[in-house]
Amino acid sequence: MTTIINTDPDSASATQNQINAEIAAIETAYQHGGIEETQPRLDYPPYRSSLLRHPTKDLHHADPEDVELWTPAFGARDVHPLEADLTIQHNGDPIGERLIVTGRVLDGNGRPVRNQLVEVWQANAAGRYVHKRDQHHAPIDPNFTGVGRCLTDDDGWYKFTTIKPGPYPWKNHNNAWRPAHIHFSLFGTEFTQRMITQMYFPGDPLFALDPIYQSITDQKARDRLVATYDHDVATHEWSTGYRWDIALSGTNRTVFEDE
Ligand SMILES: [Fe+2]
Repeated sequence: MTTIINTDPDSASATQNQINAEIAAIETAYQHGGIEETQPRLDYPPYRSSLLRHPTKDLHHADPEDVELWTPAFGARDVHPLEADLTIQHNGDPIGERLIVTGRVLDGNGRPVRNQLVEVWQANAAGRYVHKRDQHHAPIDPNFTGVGRCLTDDDGWYKFTTIKPGPYPWKNHNNAWRPAHIHFSLFGTEFTQRMITQMYFPGDPLFALDPIYQSITDQKARDRLVATYDHDVATHEWSTGYRWDIALSGTNRTVFEDE
């Protein structure tokens, strides 16, 4: 089967319709391929910058025992519980929909991964990051930095209080917008296993248009990156609530980037 794809990397002028057509062609080829893919494709032409920067050789594996002689480990004394609340880092409340996102970090056998450092970063409600490379025309929120971290408890639970990030434009193609997302980093069970991924919100109309989300070709694997609304997590007159579990390995493994 031949899939016709525009491989010109200098194509930030591509239209959304062109990107959609490429996504659809890859999707069709995948569905006819018969082999389940559970990880994002590193070379995914609709995601233009992946063409030139994706790794073309196997990663070099460091000896974990050697590395761990030199790398830090995190304990309860290093991470303050208030670092999990992204809404209290300044003098006032950030603008936006306040929400709680919580879930469990599990290994491939469904066992909780305890004392796991979970870090998050995200755009503000207007879709703007506090970063000098993000200069698009949306307001900075003086009461929101957009970074937080916590350690999982004995049952593998993490929990953050934050505001719902907005979608934001990027330069992949003309009129390109990322679906709203929160970036997550976990260190796995060893320091050499740092894993980075993105959590999305249910029902986002930008899913079908986003080449990063679509670079995971399998719908079930994509679905595992989408939180569910959980009214038991929501709190009275304070916040909405979302549940998102993270599996570090196994058949229901969460999709991670850059492996
Ligand atoms: Fe982002």
